[in-house]
Amino acid sequence: MNAKSFYSWVCAAVCAMTFAAAFVSTSHAAGSEEQTSAAAVQAQNTMTPQPLILGRGVNVLGYDPIWNQFEKRRFQEDFFPKIKAAGFDHVRLNLHPFRHMTESEGNIKFNEGWESTLDWIVNNSLRNGLKIIIDLHEFQTLSKDPQANKAKFIAFWEAMSDKFSGYSNRVIFEILNEPHDKLDAALWEVYYKEALAIIRKNNPERPVVIGPTQWNSINKLDTLNLPGEDRNLIVTVHYYLPMRFTHQGASWAGKELQETSGVTWGSEADLAAVTEHFKKVQDWALENNRQIYLGEFGAYDKAPMEGRVRYTDSVCRTAEKMGWSWGYWQFDSDFIVFDVKNGQWVKPILGALIPDSPSLKEN
Ligand code: BGC
Repeated sequence: MNAKSFYSWVCAAVCAMTFAAAFVSTSHAAGSEEQTSAAAVQAQNTMTPQPLILGRGVNVLGYDPIWNQFEKRRFQEDFFPKIKAAGFDHVRLNLHPFRHMTESEGNIKFNEGWESTLDWIVNNSLRNGLKIIIDLHEFQTLSKDPQANKAKFIAFWEAMSDKFSGYSNRVIFEILNEPHDKLDAALWEVYYKEALAIIRKNNPERPVVIGPTQWNSINKLDTLNLPGEDRNLIVTVHYYLPMRFTHQGASWAGKELQETSGVTWGSEADLAAVTEHFKKVQDWALENNRQIYLGEFGAYDKAPMEGRVRYTDSVCRTAEKMGWSWGYWQFDSDFIVFDVKNGQWVKPILGALIPDSPSLKEN
């Protein structure tokens, strides 16, 4: 997310529409991934199969030194069981593979070590009962110059399709995080359909996550033209509104936000906005008979902690009421829910995500 998306979001929010649909009243009892599923889509679901439900998750490893040198990783092997024990169902693995791919004699290959690191992560996740989303996080590179990076995009999905074709559906593919810029709705459709065709050749029923353009904006859902016959697609949106709160002090979000501080969150109007925004998404989901995955949300570490907790809790609970799966941004680096240095959960944030997490009782 950056300043540009902030402005587009603001514009879209200002033109906000009337939200018709009523809530689908479903409770999300903790612990089971399946509960989140049915209620929201069941009534409308006439076509089978519906994809595997993701449940509760956390974004991992996007900005870890592991990708340059395995020995320098911050993410340790015992983090997988810790994530599971805390109550998460999946991890969303943020991959920036393009810088680790080299072309020689017309073939694009991963540099040595990259795939073995990926294997280590995938196998540890599965072994510990966590589903894993292979999220291509090259959103900046590909959105800026789709044509120049297309060969790598295609090569990446060819390689992943081959590699994981024998794996269970607990490995999920996400074609691209936050398409934007040159990847407007029309071009994004061309690109994702090409990748999806590659994936479907040898992964006919694997759940595949696809979101709308403009950084997976909730306001662009109606530009998403999905192949109706593919019932194994999960639709993703990201939510960081209001940016003035969630990205205060963030250096990558533009000068104004970088210089913003002390913004609080939690008024009646703030809470109502989340509900209103999510209802609009829910309308779309019910109309189109698709599961929703809220793949990123959260508030930057520089926002006041009290507001971050309220925000995180409200977004999660509202998403769960809608029957959506979610993935918190992020485990480590920034927006952290886990303090790697001290080897401990950031309990206020974990408690907001998973109020009955057993890990809240640890010292
Ligand atoms: C980006 C991160 C950024 C986050 C929140 C993600 O999609 O990869 O770099 O910190 O959004 O802005």
